[in-house]
Amino acid sequence: MKTVYVGLSADLIHPGHLNIINEARKHGRVIVGLLTDRAIASYKRLPFLSYEQRKVVVENIKGVAEVIPQETLDYVPNLRKIKPDVVVHGDDWRTGVQKETRERVIQTLREWGGQLIEPKYTEGISSTLLHAELKKIGTTPEARLARLRRLLEVKDLVRIIEAHNGLTALIIENTTVTTDTATKEFDGIWLSSLTDSAAKGRPDTGFVDLTSRLNTLSDILEVTTKPVIYDGDSGGFTEHFKLMVRTLEREGISAVIIEDKIGLKESSLIEDEEVAQMQDSVENFCAKIHAGKSAQLTDDFMIIARIESLILKRGIEDAINRAKAYIDAGADAIMIHSKKKTPDEVFAFCKEYRRFDRKVPLVAVPTTYCQVTESELIQAGVRIVIYANQLLRAAYPAMVRAARSILENERAFECDEMCLPIPEILSLIKGKR
Ligand code: SPV
Ligand code: MG
Repeated sequence: MKTVYVGLSADLIHPGHLNIINEARKHGRVIVGLLTDRAIASYKRLPFLSYEQRKVVVENIKGVAEVIPQETLDYVPNLRKIKPDVVVHGDDWRTGVQKETRERVIQTLREWGGQLIEPKYTEGISSTLLHAELKKIGTTPEARLARLRRLLEVKDLVRIIEAHNGLTALIIENTTVTTDTATKEFDGIWLSSLTDSAAKGRPDTGFVDLTSRLNTLSDILEVTTKPVIYDGDSGGFTEHFKLMVRTLEREGISAVIIEDKIGLKESSLIEDEEVAQMQDSVENFCAKIHAGKSAQLTDDFMIIARIESLILKRGIEDAINRAKAYIDAGADAIMIHSKKKTPDEVFAFCKEYRRFDRKVPLVAVPTTYCQVTESELIQAGVRIVIYANQLLRAAYPAMVRAARSILENERAFECDEMCLPIPEILSLIKGKR
C-alpha cells in the first residue's frame, strides 16, 4: 500500500480539510504531519487549540491512519524520514507565504519519484475566515489571560505594542503585514502608564490611578482578543499590589510589570538628571513580588519584575544581583530597562544573564535604542519586546499638523487629504447594524 503524506495545522476543522483527507485516502495510507504550535507561530498567528487538542481531533477523522508532529513549516525533514509516495495539499499554496514550501516539497519528492497531488481549494471556507469570525465573537478572560504563556512557549520573540484607547487597540488587533514567508502581527497589548496618562493630558507620575486606568483597559478589552500586559508602575504599597493583582486577573490580563522604584513616580525616560528617583531595596521589592505571587488565583498570571538599575546608573552588577533575587522571589519574567541611545548596556546585561542557572523570560523596551532589530534582540536572549509608546507619539504630530492647517487656511479643505475618509472610519468601527 502506498504512503500518503498530508501536512495540516487543523486548528478549526472544516469541510476543506475533509476534502483533502478524502482525496488523500484514495491514494493509500494517510499520515498527517500535524504542524506544532511553534511551526504555525513561525509564519502566522498562534492556533486556538493546542497541539494535543488538534491531534485528538485529527486522529479521529475517517481515513487518517497516523498523526505525527511536523516541527517546521518546511515539509522536508518529515518527507525525508517517511519517503511518502504521494503528498496531498490544496492548490491554494501555489501563491502566497507557502509558495516556497511547495517548491521544496516538489524538489524533495523527485529524489524518490514521489508525486504531489493538489485538489482544488474549497472556496468559501477557510481557517482564515473562521478566525475572522471568531474574533468578532471575542474571547473570555481565561483564554486571554493564558495566551501570553502560550505565546512564550512557541515564539522566539513575543511582540507587544502600546494601546491607550479602544481605537489604538483595534489597530493592534487587526494590523498585519504579509511578506513572502510569513504574515506578521502584534502578539499583544501594553497598557503603558506613560501613554494612558498622556492620552488623558496627565503626567506619568502615578496620578492617573488604577480606577481610571481600568476604564481605559475596559475599552481595550471590549474590542480585542489579544493578551494584555499591564504597566503597574511600582505596584504601590504591597497591600495595594495584592489587590491590583486580583483585579487584573479577574479582567483577564496576562501579566503586570512592576518597577523597583519608590517615592513620587517619575518616568524612567525623563532626561532631567536633577529629578531624584529612588530605587527600592532588594528586600522590600522581593517581598512585594512574593506577596503578589501569593495573591494570584490562576497559574497563568505573570508578575514581571522591572529592574531600574541601568536607568539610575547603578551598573550592570547591581542589575544582575537584583535579577537573581527577583527570580528567587518568584518573578515570572525580568524586564531590563535602559534609556541609553544604543542597546549596549542591555546586551551587556543579557550576556551576564545567559549564565544564570535559573532563568525566566527577559523583556526589553527599546524606546531610546530603537535602532535595535528584533533579530538582534532574539540573539541577545530577549523573549518579549514592548514597543511602549509609538502609536501615541505617531498620532500627536499628525493631529497638531491638522489643527495648524485649519488655523492657517481658515477651512478644513487642506487638511482633508491627511485625514482618514469618513466611510473608512464608519466601517472601521462596527456597530450593531
Ligand atoms: C510606560 O510605557 O509607561 C513605561 C515604559 O513604563 S517607559 O515609559 O519607558 O518607562
Ligand atoms: Mg510606565
